[in-house]
Amino acid sequence: MIADDIEGYLAQHQDKTLLRFITCGSVDDGKSTLIGRLLYDSKMVFEDQLAALEADSRRVGTQGQELDFALLVDGLSAEREQGITIDVAYRFFATQRRKFIVADTPGHEQYTRNMVTGASTADCAVILIDARKGVLKQTRRHSYLVHLLGIRNIVLAVNKMDLVDYTEDRFDEIVADYGKFAADIGIADFTAIPISGFRGDNITAAPSDNTPWYRGASLIEHLEEVQVSAAEAAERPFRMPMQWVNRPNLDFRGFSGLIASGSIAPGDTVRIVPSGKTSTVKSIATFDGDLDSAQAGQSVTLVLDDEVDCSRGDVIAAADDPPESSDQFEATIVWMGEEALKPGRGYWLKIGTQTVTASVQEPKYEIDVNTLDHLAAKTLQLNAIGVAELRTEQPITFEAYEDSKALGGFILIDKVTNATVGAGMLHFSLRRAQNVHWQPTTITREEHAGMKNQQPRVLWFTGLSGSGKSTIANAVEQRLNLMNRHTFLLDGDNVRHGLNRDLGFTEADRIENIRRVGEVAKLMTDAGLIVLTAFISPFRAERRMVREMIADAEFIEIFVDTPLEVAEQRDVKGLYRKAREGNLKNFTGIDSPYEPPEEPEIRVNTVEMSVEEAADAIIAAILPLK
Ligand code: ADX
Repeated sequence: MIADDIEGYLAQHQDKTLLRFITCGSVDDGKSTLIGRLLYDSKMVFEDQLAALEADSRRVGTQGQELDFALLVDGLSAEREQGITIDVAYRFFATQRRKFIVADTPGHEQYTRNMVTGASTADCAVILIDARKGVLKQTRRHSYLVHLLGIRNIVLAVNKMDLVDYTEDRFDEIVADYGKFAADIGIADFTAIPISGFRGDNITAAPSDNTPWYRGASLIEHLEEVQVSAAEAAERPFRMPMQWVNRPNLDFRGFSGLIASGSIAPGDTVRIVPSGKTSTVKSIATFDGDLDSAQAGQSVTLVLDDEVDCSRGDVIAAADDPPESSDQFEATIVWMGEEALKPGRGYWLKIGTQTVTASVQEPKYEIDVNTLDHLAAKTLQLNAIGVAELRTEQPITFEAYEDSKALGGFILIDKVTNATVGAGMLHFSLRRAQNVHWQPTTITREEHAGMKNQQPRVLWFTGLSGSGKSTIANAVEQRLNLMNRHTFLLDGDNVRHGLNRDLGFTEADRIENIRRVGEVAKLMTDAGLIVLTAFISPFRAERRMVREMIADAEFIEIFVDTPLEVAEQRDVKGLYRKAREGNLKNFTGIDSPYEPPEEPEIRVNTVEMSVEEAADAIIAAILPLK
């Protein structure tokens, strides 16, 4: 498709509202036929895949038009950026009255994550049922997911009516059956339409002669009327997550973003959250000139009366009704990672325009998507859905998902692979967090360090059990003490007798072990000490988390690089033998992984070096650092 066509096409449809919807069902239910017919009957222009469109749309001129393309492709490109392919096909078509984007996702249970991706931006769901088969397990699963994701407009498309002789009884039976189940999961309302994708009954045209007993709208007529969520959101208090500061020259400074809810006009008072500063809207700028007012769904630049500070991630809100901030929540999480959730691990959490580190606690329960039963769970595997406590490193500005998808829906990203591993919905803040404030202290960490005449450091030894971490760390500490350095050695086996005696060797416990040790090491550097730690610390993600916690350049990772065969042969504590005999579970290197550092500051090879040589090499490497 060439840019000219797109421009012409968009100009023609510019003023129509856009409805995003998802189709749920499988090939057997006739989904492809239905979508094919919608596209064909509406004489849609873009049937091709969006990859080509994406390239073309960049060349399209005005802002309004660009916006359409962003809407069209953002779901896909977001996933591409995150480096995983989620199989959702987005298709675009238009009728005289409205534009549509339909997300087409595979229906099987192993594709829950795809469905969630497609449904997350949809305003409406078309749930397909094969009239011969009626309500199936998958119908329930799809309905549950759609409801969970906050889609309130549900169409029950009872398909293949031609194969049941267009009988009203069959249709009524299915509707009654579905109605019972829907009420159970909280779906208050849905619209049932008898259709035949194959024959074209009640899809686009006026009521079909084959179903004289049906007096409702055809599928397309109905979809043309469905209220889009932007219209609903406009009724709520004003919120605009800040995307960027627009400062083309010294005379102009505005805050740009997409209005998530409410409306705004010059003269309105706004509050910047979390700072709490207030100001008044001077003007609302857009590419096509200033506006008298703007509302949910529009991208604008707000110019304020005062020189207030506001940066990406902040939320500009109605002054008298701002959203809350918190750092502990209850959330429902859909796991999308190939690797299971690691409770306690830090992931990137993106919500609105905010990105922070967050961790998920052990789930309270997992939800069986077929029966809706609550199951006990220690983690969440690919496609599992669970409810858990979520903690963010800094407070985030949020609203409950049921009130605002923009400020209540989030994704989780693996910090190492950059893949999207989860999506979720915030329900409410766990109030605990709100009354704890940071207490300022008078003696600074610089003064603590200055009194000891040294630069605080963390010498983080990592390696297999029996690799020689403790022995070498001990030798290094002795040398540092001879040099009048103030040190402290935190050793895995010792810490596990006290502070961490409640922890074992599951992945979750090891993560928590390292998190606590990281916090303690950090406090000790605040006290001015040079801290040596000797923990297997098998996971890259947690070593990196500690690195990020500690001040710049103070974290020195030392890889005690002893091959498994060597450590096992030494077997100082006899634990490898036990593990090999099956009497010790989750032993690192045997049936629990060790991820070696990729770029440690220092590497010592204990096969080639003695303990004394290794300690000397480490001292030589850190001495220039003071
Ligand atoms: S870590 O994985 O959480 O960093 P940590 O260094 O604290 O481990 O503890 C490791 C020490 O615990 C080992 O040197 C060994 O003495 C002992 N240990 C007992 N069980 C295990 C196990 N299953 N895996 C590894 N180490 C174990």
